[in-house]
Order: sequence, then C-alpha cells, then structure tokens
Amino acid sequence: MEIRSTTDEDFDVFVDTVHAAFGRFPETPVEGGGLWWSALEADRCLLALTADGRPVGTAATHAFELTLPGETLVPAPGVTAVGVLPSHRRQGVLSAMMRHQLADLRAHGEVLSVLLASEATIYGRFGYGPATYTQRLTVQRHRAALRGEGGTAGAPATGADRGSVEVLRRAECGEILEDVYDRYRRAQPGALSRPHRWWSSRAGQPPISPAPRYVAVHRDADGVPDGYASYSLGEPDNTLTVDETITCDDAVFTALARFVLGHDLTSRVVFRHMPPQHPLRWQLADFRAGEAGDDMDWLWVRLLDVPRALTARGWFTDGELVLDVEDPFLDEHDRYLLTVRDGKADCVPTDREPDLSLDVCDLGSVYLGGTAPSTLVRAGHIRAHRPDAAALADALFRGDRSPHCLHWF
Ligand SMILES: CC(C)(COP(=O)(O)OP(=O)(O)OC[C@H]1O[C@@H](n2cnc3c(N)ncnc32)[C@H](O)[C@@H]1OP(=O)(O)O)[C@@H](O)C(=O)NCCC(=O)NCCS
Repeated sequence: MEIRSTTDEDFDVFVDTVHAAFGRFPETPVEGGGLWWSALEADRCLLALTADGRPVGTAATHAFELTLPGETLVPAPGVTAVGVLPSHRRQGVLSAMMRHQLADLRAHGEVLSVLLASEATIYGRFGYGPATYTQRLTVQRHRAALRGEGGTAGAPATGADRGSVEVLRRAECGEILEDVYDRYRRAQPGALSRPHRWWSSRAGQPPISPAPRYVAVHRDADGVPDGYASYSLGEPDNTLTVDETITCDDAVFTALARFVLGHDLTSRVVFRHMPPQHPLRWQLADFRAGEAGDDMDWLWVRLLDVPRALTARGWFTDGELVLDVEDPFLDEHDRYLLTVRDGKADCVPTDREPDLSLDVCDLGSVYLGGTAPSTLVRAGHIRAHRPDAAALADALFRGDRSPHCLHWF
C-alpha cells in the first residue's frame, strides 16, 4: 500500500474517497460556499492507495492553533476526513495512515495533534485521549428567570453590564464574528483557532456555514462588539437553539443569555456546546429549570513531544512528579521528571522511581486540565505508586479555567 499527499490535481479523488468511506455523495456547491471540505488544503491531505493504485483511505489535518492553560498558544494539527472504504476495512489501512501521519507531524516539529472522534473506540490505540467535554443545556422559558431579576425572563440588562445587544442577520455580520471568536479563543484553554479560510469559504457548522441564522451581537459601552450568540427558532414548539455563545467575559455571556431567554414566543432555549460546569445554571433562579444533556467528549489530544508539550502550558501549583509514559503505538517508553516552579515547568528524562505510570493517551486526557488524573487512577487507567501521587497530580495539572472547545472540524 502507498500513502501519499494529494495535490491540487487529485484533490477531487480525495473528496470522492472520503465521501465513499462515509457512504455519502459530495454535495453540489451552492452560492455562498459552505461545503465542509472547502477548508481543507490539498498538501495536508493523505490518500492510501492499493498496489494497483486504487484509492481506499483518506486522512488530513487542518492547521489550527490550540490555547493551553495559561493562555499560551501552540500549533495544533487537527486530524480530520479520516475514512477507509467499507470494502477495505479491518485490514490495517487506518493504522498505516495514522503511523504515516504521526511520523509526518513529528518530522515537522509538531508538539501535539488533536481530533474529534466519530466513535470513542477508534483513537485511543493511536495515542489520543479525550481532553475536553461538552453538553447542551435546555432551559424551559417559563422557568427561565435569572437570580435577582424579579422573575421576569428577558428583563432589560441590569447591574454591571453597560453594553447593548443588537440582532443582525448572519449575512449582515461582516467580520464581527471572526474578530470576536478570535479574541475569545486566545483566552479560552482548549479552544482552537478558526483560520480565515474557514470564514471566507464558510466551511463548517453555523454560524460559519451559510445556514440562515440570527445573531445577537453584544457591544461594550463604547460600541465595540465583545460577544455574540447565533441562534434559530424551530420545531418542536418554537424551540430557540443557540449554536454558540462566544465571549471572554462572564457578564457579556449573562447579557446574551438574558437576551435569548427573553425571546417571546419560544417554549424553551437550547444552548448547544456548553462547557460542563458553566455558571449559567447557577444563575437561574430555579436551578432545575436548566437541564443538562448530551454530555460528550469533544477534543481529543495526542502528545507527540512530551517534554515540549508539558513545558509549553502554564502551571498554577508548584510541585514535582515522576511520570512513566508508555506509547505503545509508537513503541516508546520514557520516564520524565516534571518540576513546576512559579508557573513554569521543567521536564527532563530521569531514572528516578515513578510516581505515576500512564499511557500517552491518558497524558493527552489530563494535559489541558479538563480530566483529573485521580479519575483515571480510580478508573484503572493510570497507576499511582504512592498514596498522595494522584492528589498531587490533580493539583498540578488543574488549569486556570476549565478547557473547552466548540469548533467542529
Ligand atoms: C474507522 C475506520 C477509519 C477504521 O479503518 P480501518 O482501516 O478499518 O482500521 P484498521 O484496520 O487500521 O484498524 C485498527 C484497529 O482499530 C480497530 N477499529 C477500527 N475501526 C474501529 C471502530 N470503528 N470501532 C472499534 N475499533 C475499530 C480495528 O479492529 C483494529 O484493531 P486491532 O489493531 O486490535 O486489530 C473505518 O472503519 C471507517 O472509515 N469508518 C467510517 C468513517 C469513520 O468513522 N471515520 C472516522 C472519523 S473520526
């Protein structure tokens, strides 16, 4: 089997093959763009071909940037368009593509890679672990009052918020969404960049795609946009669904939530892509008015260079841990001394006795601070070699705020 990059000349073969792997047909382009694969770059796409030259497998990466705890940014190739023709499955095609891709990424000096998994059983073996989580929050409108606001959902903004909310149609938003998203993702651990080509080709889910949407744009007291919520109304029973609420500022989030919860002639508001533990639930006068559902993993992380990855992120508690890291897919086994002082980590090879033994996929899971190492110890994934090692690891890996990612790719 041959695995090679595509070129502009055979990019259409790549597109046909990935659609065939998913049992779909490519959609016909429409005015305004919106085809999901239009954000792909031909030289970042891999084709797997049989000995007689037939394409049977695909995999690609997007050139994203990932925000780490401490608001540091690292390049993060986003693995996507992974598929093998149904006729060629379970013959090692994906394994060969993953091996090729990881070697390629390492050769380009990448520290880590990320992906969204169609099935949670596929990628652990290749060293990826779930690192951020998402859920939807459904709020019944008749119980949607916020605390301290006298029971009237949709009351005008009160308190600290001196800004304003304006409703625009998606097509009227110009660069506002791209600018607000970019400021947000730089401050939010776990968030990915949305390169300009995504916005210009309108590749992705709403509000990037051309699907019609209303957008509540929040502006600060000087009129500068500092948050938005894109939404649509539909069945059942006039449900208002918010695709995403984007802002760096909790008060702006509250103002946007107050706005959508106050929308007349709606029975419920569904906030998609909410970080678990978001404060909105606690802001409702009736805690049970907010119902969390569809809890799932979102971003999976694969560390490619453990010392560089660990020293790149910010740290918030001093301490020292010896990590024994197994990487079965790449047939590697290393032991590191991680020392954190004053927000910075040092990570060097050591032959000291380990505090924790773990698979590289579990290190990916705890890396952004969204999965407690002690949970993985209790689940039997990570082995703690002394009684306080799990608690120390929890304290060390915890970030400045919970990681969250809502970009779909
Ligand atoms: C998922 C997919 C790419 C796997 O490709 P493949 O070439 O059959 O995978 P491989 O033969 O290299 O399998 C490697 C290992 O993963 C396992 N595996 C593969 N797909 C799996 C799945 N969907 N669920 C559980 N295990 C899976 C295989 O059993 C094999 O295990 P082993 O090493 O213990 O024998 C292919 O089934 C596919 O195209 N599915 C539909 C599209 C899709 O879901 N793509 C992923 C998008 S994120």
